[in-house]
Amino acid sequence: MNKKKNIILTGDSPTGNLHIGHYFGSIKKRVELQKKFKQYIIVADYQALFNRRKIKDIKKNTFNIIIEYLSLGIDPKETTIFIQTSIPEINEFYIFLLNFVSYERLIRNPTIKKEIRMKNIKKPNMGFLTYPISQSADILSFLANYTIVGIDQKPIIEQCNEISKKINSYVKKNFFKKCKTIFGSKKKLMGIYGKNKMSKSLKNSIDLNSSEKEIIQRVRNIYTDPNRTKKNSPGNTKGNIVFDYLELFTKKKDMEILCEKYKIGTISDSKLKEILKDKLINFIKPIKKMRNIYNKNKDYVIEVIKKGNYKARNVVKKNLSKFKEILGFKSY
Ligand code: TRP
Repeated sequence: MNKKKNIILTGDSPTGNLHIGHYFGSIKKRVELQKKFKQYIIVADYQALFNRRKIKDIKKNTFNIIIEYLSLGIDPKETTIFIQTSIPEINEFYIFLLNFVSYERLIRNPTIKKEIRMKNIKKPNMGFLTYPISQSADILSFLANYTIVGIDQKPIIEQCNEISKKINSYVKKNFFKKCKTIFGSKKKLMGIYGKNKMSKSLKNSIDLNSSEKEIIQRVRNIYTDPNRTKKNSPGNTKGNIVFDYLELFTKKKDMEILCEKYKIGTISDSKLKEILKDKLINFIKPIKKMRNIYNKNKDYVIEVIKKGNYKARNVVKKNLSKFKEILGFKSY
């Protein structure tokens, strides 16, 4: 008997390497919650298409992200991992959902507006503009009542709940549940230069597959207190990225000691970076080991994907047929 009642649907678009921001922002939470929740992780490969990634890269990134999940502690016995394009029934949900969202509402979505601005998208295609609806379809296909996302995705989940409420009132039934959002962390992890959030495309990230050399290089460039001119002058820990990162790996008590030392000037920037570098290397070492094991056992990974796809597809098929019936459609 499976005693897990609540359903989590969460996922990522396979756009490249994962970095520590992904881990602490979402994946760590998934690992923690998988024992208590019925958890599904979608690799949203359609979402990688709207910004014109090469199919070859999408395929490679999809496989790699799944290896990454496994290496980070996602257990396929507890979590169903699957690929969006392997489950065409989600698209049927998507088509139904399209009819419950106005164009005006879509282009008002703050996440969409922000991404258009940030990425300087001149002519957004419909795949991109409607991705909040596609993501809602991902969630609603599983009748999920929880999702885990980064803080920037909050408006997407709000829109999902708006759609499901509209449909529930249309069919006069509580078919879809409200989807509650679990945030992996309260704030976005900043990139090493302290200006933008951590992002692979901005080359300011510490990737989970970094080599020791790359870690040393990135750590050397981390933004600290610009007003600290001498190594023993009093320093500021606020907005100091080394402290943001150290916090991820350090107990509260030890963190307080480090902060105090920095403030009175008894610990240098280079010593701090040395500590951080060691912590990062220690964190990444076992992940690397696991990744190597999975890379040598591709058949096992393929098996995980096949089983996940099969299981997820059956759930969606069942929910879709119920949904169509409630809406009043009939298949002959
Ligand atoms: N848009 C999400 C991201 O880029 C990925 C995603 C796709 C997702 N479908 C989802 C997240 C459903 C949560 C639920 O991070």
